[in-house]
Amino acid sequence: VLETLQVTPVIGAEIRGVQLSGDLDDLVIDEIKTLVARHKVVFFRDQHHLDDAGQEAFASRLGELVAHPTQHVRKGTSSLLELDSSHGGRADQWHTDITFVPAYPKYSVLRGVVIPETGGDTIWANTSAAYEALPPALKQLADSLRAVHSNSYDYAAQRPKATEVEKKHYREVFSSKVFQAEHPVVRVHPETGERTLLLGSFVQRITGLSRSDTHKIYELFQGYITAPENTVRWRWRVGDIAIWDNRATQHVAINDYGDAHRVVRRVTTEGDTPVGIDG
Ligand code: SIN
Repeated sequence: VLETLQVTPVIGAEIRGVQLSGDLDDLVIDEIKTLVARHKVVFFRDQHHLDDAGQEAFASRLGELVAHPTQHVRKGTSSLLELDSSHGGRADQWHTDITFVPAYPKYSVLRGVVIPETGGDTIWANTSAAYEALPPALKQLADSLRAVHSNSYDYAAQRPKATEVEKKHYREVFSSKVFQAEHPVVRVHPETGERTLLLGSFVQRITGLSRSDTHKIYELFQGYITAPENTVRWRWRVGDIAIWDNRATQHVAINDYGDAHRVVRRVTTEGDTPVGIDG
């Protein structure tokens, strides 16, 4: 049984006393999956022994690895995505990974490689607790909605201070090919059975609503998701690993470190198409 310390009562736990690798016992892998389902995001400190290959080998025990549909796979790896702040890799809008494809990833496994002396924390939110916090009338509204997610979103407009290098990166890499997927706003988690709110910054419109109504309804629900008491904030150290369940979370990397350097590397595992409350 792994030693687990909850970081908050609502989301996040640190798991101690395990060296992550591709060779872990099946029982340990199953326990990690159970803990991710319960806490939504789990953290492991001091996994300095993991290089890119080791991260991929470990993550592939959680599911089949899938590469990002538009961004470069890191050289020498099968599917690893590097987010380097000096090349515009700042995931600083609340989102769930890659929701613009129909079966977006189940797990993300992120490794701290270069961490600023201060700043660059990541915050995760529990989208199941957010649904449960809604008053009944808003639950009913959310239950009835669907939303179109797309990567054709104007990244530069979100960041007026983006440099020319960053803007070029957004155009050429993030949006080189446009993807779109319509999902229910309330997703039933296939393992826990919990209802979760499925939104985030890739939402382009709520089906059947105008742009202006989409914005209002989106902000209404996002407010429940990102409420402080529904989140956990992680202060990264080099060698940390975070694993989260994209079916029950959103996250954001806080862009507060200016020109300091931050590099994290991520792999994601194959997901399944979201199922709404009507099956
Ligand atoms: C991500 O959005 O997957 C990366 C989060 C981070 O950079 O902390």
